[in-house]
Amino acid sequence: MMGSTIVEIRSLTKRFGKLTAVDAMNLDIQEGEIFGLLGPNGAGKTTTISMLSTTLAPTSGKALVARHDVVREQDAVRGAIGIVFQGQSLDTELTAYENLDFHARLYAVGDKETRIKEMLELVGLHKNRDTLVKNFSGGMKRRLEIARGLLHKPKVLFLDEPTLGLDPQTRRHIWEYVKRINREDGVTILLTTHYMEEADYLCGGVAIIDYGRIISLDEPQKLKSRLGETVLDFHVSDADAFCGLLKKNKCKTKKSAVGGRVQVVSSDGEELLPKLVSLAERNGVQVKGVSMHSSTLEDVFMQLTGRTIRDEAGNEKETLRQRFRAMEAKR
Ligand SMILES: Nc1ncnc2c1ncn2[C@@H]1O[C@H](COP(=O)(O)OP(=O)(O)OP(=O)(O)O)[C@@H](O)[C@H]1O
Ligand SMILES: [Mg+2]
Repeated sequence: MMGSTIVEIRSLTKRFGKLTAVDAMNLDIQEGEIFGLLGPNGAGKTTTISMLSTTLAPTSGKALVARHDVVREQDAVRGAIGIVFQGQSLDTELTAYENLDFHARLYAVGDKETRIKEMLELVGLHKNRDTLVKNFSGGMKRRLEIARGLLHKPKVLFLDEPTLGLDPQTRRHIWEYVKRINREDGVTILLTTHYMEEADYLCGGVAIIDYGRIISLDEPQKLKSRLGETVLDFHVSDADAFCGLLKKNKCKTKKSAVGGRVQVVSSDGEELLPKLVSLAERNGVQVKGVSMHSSTLEDVFMQLTGRTIRDEAGNEKETLRQRFRAMEAKR
């Protein structure tokens, strides 16, 4: 299904006063791809999607979606896209059918009864057709929003945090729908997430975003293999001292420290583990815990930024502090 470029982003920038939410972004997404924008809270994911879907005007730069300019050809762009917003946007006083019917009229969907039925079946909600949305669970609402986003057969579907706050089982279901829509209907999908495993499972390509900039872009597997095969996660009494020891002993590893955590990435983790534990203990650094796993996209983010995505999720004050620090540093 891979074909030509369907989303083309050039120097796309959005400023809110002094804050640069999206900073001169360049990105090409190919037709038929499932592409992920990955990053912590406040990275600029929603702002990017909002500009691409014409709900927010860029400060500068350019973007084409389905070959239409997002500023000069807004109607054509809107006709070519479907969008599932980060926040819930259904009318909860209406039934599932009524929500879809309203959207179908808005977009003048041909043979709407058949299309509504198809979409409700796709997301497994046909039995709940006449239930008021206020009685739906979070996962059911998300599925209905996906059905609505697809109703008018868009070429590109934007999914902003499609599984945020959902339980693991519902998240899996949504992943399967997303794969199916992509595979069977050839819909190009651009999704945002701060769940690394979601990007890993779904996306052929991912851009890791931090402070509005793409800091890494590749296939998930390639991003991970660049790191090395195993990650050793140490929890130690003194992270700085431990990092100093690693440096002094010329460990051929990459490391980053957050709190008492030190991460060492290596291609021979199993051999290295006992050596590093003994090195720490000989030098008075207490090893409180250690685990070993194959590298994940979470590790990639940590290696690139020295922070974890999850630490920041739900800690808005810290996110803001870091953004202001980064802004100060740029001046
Ligand atoms: N309308 C606005 N006015 C002022 N600042 C804004 C506005 N919208 C977003 N921002 C700021 O721009 C930055 C990027 O926000 P954005 O919502 O794009 O992040 P995100 O990556 O989607 O984060 P999250 O994972 O929390 O959804 C944040 O610092 C946010 O506070
Ligand atoms: Mg967002």
